[in-house]
Amino acid sequence: MHELRIGVLTCSDTRSAGSAEDTSGKALIALSEERGWSIAAYHVVPDDHDVIANALVEMADVDEVDVILTTGGTGLGPRDVCPEVTLAHCDRLVPGIAEAIRAESLLITKRAMLSRGVAAQRGRTLIINLPGSEKAVRESFVMVADQLEHAAEMMAGGGHG
Ligand code: MTE
Repeated sequence: MHELRIGVLTCSDTRSAGSAEDTSGKALIALSEERGWSIAAYHVVPDDHDVIANALVEMADVDEVDVILTTGGTGLGPRDVCPEVTLAHCDRLVPGIAEAIRAESLLITKRAMLSRGVAAQRGRTLIINLPGSEKAVRESFVMVADQLEHAAEMMAGGGHG
């Protein structure tokens, strides 16, 4: 088993300003810790392209986390830019993860089609965009969590063992 180093990034104007609690980011931290994974970095940032980019790059390149779980900023609002920033700073897509999240989420709510979240690799870091509500991250986390240790092993050059 690979003990993952996780980065959590919440993209939200209101939460970064302190006018709302970061319930989804905290849920991701708790869910990760329940699996025995460590939280190596946690940031709450506004829906700003450059601020999100700096946080993603720092967590991937400096903190060297295995997986960054982002929450928020995946919808159709004018300031929802998390997927665009993720794509701009990654090397390649991992489409199956976002496909699985949307497909399974559609069985829960048709609103799932309104999340534009992507999953992609920056070097040895896997970045997964999740929606912004605590409900959505709790539902989405369990859809992908079992695959993340194997994903980290593969990113580190490991075989399928
Ligand atoms: N996915 C799951 N599993 N559960 C949810 O409740 N909410 C949806 C969708 N994905 C939802 C979900 C809603 S209401 C929206 S608007 C989009 O995610 C985008 O959310 P975001 O703008 O907070 O990123």
